[in-house]
Amino acid sequence: MELFDVYPLYDITPVKGEGAYVFDKEGNKYLDLYGGHAVISIGHSHPAYVNSISKQVAELGFYSNSVKNPLQNNLAEKLKKLSGIEDYSLFLCNSGAEANENALKVASFHTGKDRVIYFENAFHGRTSGVVAVTDNENIKAPFNQHHQATKIAFEDTDTLEKELKKGDVAAVIFEVIQGVGGLDEASTEFYQKTAELCKKYSSVLIADEVQSGYGRTGDFFAFQKHNIRPDIISIAKGMGNGFPIGGVLIDKAIEAKPGMLGTTFGGNHLACAAGISVLEVIEKENLLKNASELFGYVKEKAAEIPQIKKIKGRGLMIGLEFDFEIAQLRKELLYKHQIFTGASANKKLLRILPPLNIKKKHFDELFKALKIVLN
Ligand SMILES: Cc1ncc(COP(=O)(O)O)c(C=O)c1O
Repeated sequence: MELFDVYPLYDITPVKGEGAYVFDKEGNKYLDLYGGHAVISIGHSHPAYVNSISKQVAELGFYSNSVKNPLQNNLAEKLKKLSGIEDYSLFLCNSGAEANENALKVASFHTGKDRVIYFENAFHGRTSGVVAVTDNENIKAPFNQHHQATKIAFEDTDTLEKELKKGDVAAVIFEVIQGVGGLDEASTEFYQKTAELCKKYSSVLIADEVQSGYGRTGDFFAFQKHNIRPDIISIAKGMGNGFPIGGVLIDKAIEAKPGMLGTTFGGNHLACAAGISVLEVIEKENLLKNASELFGYVKEKAAEIPQIKKIKGRGLMIGLEFDFEIAQLRKELLYKHQIFTGASANKKLLRILPPLNIKKKHFDELFKALKIVLN
């Protein structure tokens, strides 16, 4: 049977991963500065992680959400401790789209309203509700176009207030730093005003931290820099270091009702073991600090390359904006220098999303290769 052909593929077949590297079947070594799209948070095949999920699958890999699973409580406690956020509860699911879909559903149940405001260049996933609030018409089927969704620009608080005033807005959903959109981040004033307006008009503020969360920016959550308190926070990607797991953190003021959300696989034993291990490694290896410190180093190195016009993002969520379109540059980095990088909606932006325990020497490899390609 053939595979449903939706992905343009690189002619590379990784069969093994170790730390910041993956290896193909011929033994060629690739530096992974993309982390499989911000997923590999603690490095490929981290020994503590391998040990933890191997042990768990040998004991109990799965049972349904109709029985007690203390691993879910353990994960929730660790998440609270490391993130420093108080008075939220956790619902576990399997992916970023599912996390956002659940966030929108909770917001709509809670407010009794049905419209959602999203921002230009936003990406929130591909399932029905979240693709409707994603700024890419090419990936919306006719079926996805019946949701009540309104797009506005970052920083446009006048339009935001005008829309919220209409009284039918269940939620405002935003990425603090846009990932797929090209690493744009609005001002602290904008995020604070948005939070204030959501409160004033009884709409739910949803921070999509699927890509920017879990320590990637050097803060546990990217919104923490702006001193706001979202009503709901969605998480996934780095949460399981490749094991599919996502979640929504929901302000305790929002009441849970049986049947409001549900899932077969979400929060299963194996997923929780992966999630707990990731948090333990983040804490033990002080990875938030590493993410902050390395950003300074990347800025220094990028300043040596005149073709780089701007450095966007924070921590290890980095965009290097060149003065030309980077499609060819990415190919050369991959095929001539064995370095994985990412692209975005901004065609001049090279996206770097490495494991959070990456070291300076790995960035040295990148900048050495960039100098060769650009000279
Ligand atoms: C900010 C953001 N939200 C949601 C998603 C969707 O996550 P998933 O692909 O796990 O459904 C992504 C994926 O790239 C993302 O970057």
